[in-house]
Amino acid sequence: MSSPMSTPALLNRTPGDRDANQPQETPQREIEQNATTTANRGEAELVTVAGTEIEFPCEPGQTVLEAAETAGWSIPYSCRKGVCTSCTGGLRAGELAVRGRGTISGPADNVLLCRAEPLGPVEIEPRRIERREPPRRKALTTVVHRIRRPAPRVTVLDLRFPIGRRAPFQAGQFLNVTLPDGDTRPYSLANSPQHNDAAELHVRTEPGGRFSEQIVGELRRGDLVSVETPFGEFVLDDTDAPVILLATGTGFAPIKSMVQDQIARRQTRRMHLYWGCRTADDLYLRELPEKWAARHDWFRFTPVLSRPAPGWRGATGWVQQAVLADYPDLAHVHVYACGSEAMTTQALATLTSEAGLREEHFHADAFVPAAGSLTTA
Ligand SMILES: Cc1cc2nc3c(=O)[nH]c(=O)nc-3n(C[C@H](O)[C@H](O)[C@H](O)COP(=O)(O)OP(=O)(O)OC[C@H]3O[C@@H](n4cnc5c(N)ncnc54)[C@H](O)[C@@H]3O)c2cc1C
Ligand code: FES
Repeated sequence: MSSPMSTPALLNRTPGDRDANQPQETPQREIEQNATTTANRGEAELVTVAGTEIEFPCEPGQTVLEAAETAGWSIPYSCRKGVCTSCTGGLRAGELAVRGRGTISGPADNVLLCRAEPLGPVEIEPRRIERREPPRRKALTTVVHRIRRPAPRVTVLDLRFPIGRRAPFQAGQFLNVTLPDGDTRPYSLANSPQHNDAAELHVRTEPGGRFSEQIVGELRRGDLVSVETPFGEFVLDDTDAPVILLATGTGFAPIKSMVQDQIARRQTRRMHLYWGCRTADDLYLRELPEKWAARHDWFRFTPVLSRPAPGWRGATGWVQQAVLADYPDLAHVHVYACGSEAMTTQALATLTSEAGLREEHFHADAFVPAAGSLTTA
């Protein structure tokens, strides 16, 4: 076993942690990209929100999304890399430099607010904006405590934080792993929020993937992994409406955190999980939801296989089709979907058009690839 101090795996700074809300190093490639958009600006620009009294400053180098967060406003987002389009909104007036996409002048629609920096005062129209405490993010150097490979293409990584350090989060949120060049990869936190001195990640191996194959494949107990946590809006609403949970593959990770959180808090909100994988072997922690279903009458579990072996007697096909077969009316249900982008996109379209699910009751984190994030975004 190698010692944390001697293993350079993902060590980007000395072990320890810092408050990620404090000024921090910006990756070199990001600095170069930003140079064209921020070089002549030394002052904050004012961002106003159309149709509201909301306004906040955006510091040089900050995106509109980051500035909103700093000011205590939450705009929808997921990847923060210009890939998933969760953060798109309108630009009613002014000019924005959108990293990797050039300058946009208002009025314009479908602007990626996670990549947009104001070039002067701007008026924006996000799809949603809500009061939210500014996130208290922490950058931590964690230690690999345990590595499990419960399925051929899935690694469960248990990371421990420095002794005495905790990083509170909400079930469903994710952290960013920082790669040696400063690029990042988001991974959902699979542990329950009650255990916030550690992080459990479920990583699906992508062929050729920089983190999931090349780095995870080499990791050993005691290696160091730099992370920043927490991020994300994929958290349960505070109503008691019944919940349908949809997962494909490692999209089970944040769902596990949500259910274990509910168990820990002795809540009994009704939940039905549909977990879709190709084969039964891909249901890598299947015994867990089976155990929850056996112990808690508020929880149901339906595994769904798209390529079942002969003899499989359970549901087959796509998770959203399995839901439709069981619940033709979803008017009063909230759906939380996590995993492949194909699933989250199709589930939204199918369940809203065929079962009356209200769009605002559909919540998703799509595991979009981050490839090219520093070069194209
Ligand atoms: C909010 C969020 C949460 C996430 N949580 C998880 C999680 O809990 N578990 C998990 O396994 N992944 C998760 N992901 C995906 C993860 O962040 C990485 O994108 C993924 O692990 C690949 O990273 P990599 O460095 O190995 O591959 P890269 O080097 O970035 O890409 C290598 C190749 O694989 C392709 N590729 C990468 N990702 C995918 C994909 N998802 N589907 C199809 N092709 C792909 C790329 O296009 C590229 O060709 C999440 C993504 C987001 C946006
Ligand atoms: S959060 Fe902006 S594109 Fe994903």
